[in-house]
Amino acid sequence: MSLVQISGLKKYFDTVHAVDGVDLEIKQGEFLVILGPSGCGKTTLMRMIAGLEKPSAGQISIGGADVTALPPRKRGVSMVFQSYALYPHMNVFNNIAFPLRAQRREKKFDKRVIREKVEDTARLLEIDMLLDRRPRQLSGGQRQRVAIARAMVTQPAVLLLDEPLSNLDAKLRANARDELKDFQRSSDITAVFVTHDQIEAMGLGDRIVVMSEGKIQQVGTPQQIYDDPANEFVATFLGSPSMNIIASAHHKFGFRPEHFLPKTLNDNPENARIFHYFVKRVEYLGSDRLVYGYVQGHDSHLTLAKVPSNVRVSLDVETDYEFAVHYRDLKFFDQRSGARITRRNPAEAL
Ligand SMILES: Nc1ncnc2c1ncn2[C@@H]1O[C@H](COP(=O)(O)OP(=O)(O)OP(=O)(O)O)[C@@H](O)[C@H]1O
Ligand SMILES: [Mg+2]
Repeated sequence: MSLVQISGLKKYFDTVHAVDGVDLEIKQGEFLVILGPSGCGKTTLMRMIAGLEKPSAGQISIGGADVTALPPRKRGVSMVFQSYALYPHMNVFNNIAFPLRAQRREKKFDKRVIREKVEDTARLLEIDMLLDRRPRQLSGGQRQRVAIARAMVTQPAVLLLDEPLSNLDAKLRANARDELKDFQRSSDITAVFVTHDQIEAMGLGDRIVVMSEGKIQQVGTPQQIYDDPANEFVATFLGSPSMNIIASAHHKFGFRPEHFLPKTLNDNPENARIFHYFVKRVEYLGSDRLVYGYVQGHDSHLTLAKVPSNVRVSLDVETDYEFAVHYRDLKFFDQRSGARITRRNPAEAL
């Protein structure tokens, strides 16, 4: 069932088309990730869902009701900001209690109820021993949990998280990611999570929305987005190193570095396209060797191969090799628009 429906949503700041016609359905209980480069409109989209920004056009409905004109507090949506925006002069308890106390008169909670709700939420996020501390006395990860607790305490239908992990170091970040996912699953809340980190997106999302320049490029599961990209933007935005793209006479084609391997490793060369590959440089990265070189006939830019280190093939620099890509791993794109083209017979298309 879809909980949130967004149609034709736009936000223009003068000439900047921050969000430029977004249609999206968010399902009840899902973890939806919005992924895209800086400036593509992620925060603006979230702020419109939360009611903090007025759309230039389009509609948002939540649970079947049109909320486009409703103020934030009437939408059943909470947002966790990138900076956490905790109140520095209040302790953790008062930070979490803040949205409850700010409720309008008709929904005013008495002291006892506020205490119960704050303590329950703090327990859920395992910060119940920190309630007397001020934000500056907390680690980044703890602050993040306080910000989530504050967003959760009103029991919103939708939790919006705008890059909440970006202030954490790599190790804390991985932990926080894991905790966040566990917490979302066990509370069954619908979460929308913004990031420009593809690893985070792939790891967390039930579905991923890829955005660029205010528009949705593709919506799908992590696997669909990675294996079956809708266009050149999605194909090259996901994956590290990025997909190799080569222009031929009529179109462009692409293949991922991990699919570009010495021909000798290919057990069925009939199903593969063979390339003459001149190896320029090899980087040893522990688990993989990253190879930089040139494909014969397309030597205007570097083509990368990612060869697992446990593959015992010698790769010497300044040497020609035969490399192969399985036909199923070749993706074709329109020369001009970058849209994906499906080829019945990739062997003929090359
Ligand atoms: N209040 C504003 N006034 C004018 N332009 C704005 C305003 N808010 C955002 N923009 C512009 O709208 C575009 C989208 O901004 P937005 O903050 O939504 O991007 P983002 O995807 O969240 O980027 P980041 O990953 O850097 O946070 C940008 O070009 C930005 O400069
Ligand atoms: Mg942003």
